[in-house]
Amino acid sequence: MKDKILLTGVKPTGTPHLGNLIGAIDPILNFSKTAQKTFVFIADLHALNFVRNKENLKRDTYEIAAIFMALGLDLEKSVLFRQSDIPQVPQIASLLMNVTPKGLMNRAHSYKALVEKNTSAGVDPDDGINMGLYTYPILMAADILAYQADAVPVGKDQKQHLEFTRDIAGSFNHLYGKDLFKLPMPLISEETGIIPGLDGRKMSKSYQNVIPIFCDEKTLQKSIMKIKTDCKLPNEPKDPDSSTLIQLYTCFATAEQTRQMRHLFETGGIGYGDAKKMLFDVMNQKLTSPREKYTDLIHHPAQIDAVLEEGARKARPIAQQTLEMMRRVMIG
Ligand code: TRP
Repeated sequence: MKDKILLTGVKPTGTPHLGNLIGAIDPILNFSKTAQKTFVFIADLHALNFVRNKENLKRDTYEIAAIFMALGLDLEKSVLFRQSDIPQVPQIASLLMNVTPKGLMNRAHSYKALVEKNTSAGVDPDDGINMGLYTYPILMAADILAYQADAVPVGKDQKQHLEFTRDIAGSFNHLYGKDLFKLPMPLISEETGIIPGLDGRKMSKSYQNVIPIFCDEKTLQKSIMKIKTDCKLPNEPKDPDSSTLIQLYTCFATAEQTRQMRHLFETGGIGYGDAKKMLFDVMNQKLTSPREKYTDLIHHPAQIDAVLEEGARKARPIAQQTLEMMRRVMIG
């Protein structure tokens, strides 16, 4: 990873939760420790195909930037910026359109799912689908290719988009000269698995079962108390493998602490109330200090703006170089 350029984008569509922290943000921070350079941007242009409220967009953008800053993204080595601050990216996307088969976009999972929904509802297959959504994968390819990223940490749901990026880059190279674009590798962290939410289903905004990363201590405590359990008594043995509490505990505790907790479950040595208190302790221990930084940043958005502007200043010339290379080989 030492000589690799990492890049990832986070869409500003709602307050990030602990599932996002464990499944996406933590892996990015870990990968970035050993990478040569990491680009992290807030993909606000990608949100535009359905976010219609610019105040929400702005709030979510600040929240994501503040989360990365509070969790210690190394700003010496990493570039944190807002996608829309780099006008070269949509220009690159518009050039890439010409080497992207329409059929590729027709095959995109997210587009196809909407078409299927429309079809079974008996309305026009493209009802409610705008071109921002349809061409989403091309803008994403532009994001990645603009900075010649080697590796892209993403969730499983983005795997197809990475394949499209490789296809689009390959098609460009085939037409205009081999090795003009590097083909980026997806970095999909499998081992974290699914992070359960308050009701035991996958933690997800759409299930309304999330715990925001930096909610205040009281809210964190209350949320943890709400986590669903069965009604086993404290001295009854409990199955650690099917317990949401254990799954969450494993994400925050050391291996040794997890081993002890599992043992307490199996032997009927702990009640759910006490297990929840212990879960709160390990979570809060990890979150307290970054939460303070986060709260301070959110109340001082000028500090966040300064970091994002500095990031854009570093990112822009790199995207500009890519754009110039494309112009040179495509237009002359
Ligand atoms: N599509 C990604 C998501 O929904 C966000 C994103 C936009 C992205 N551009 C990117 C991720 C480039 C990785 C690389 O999560």
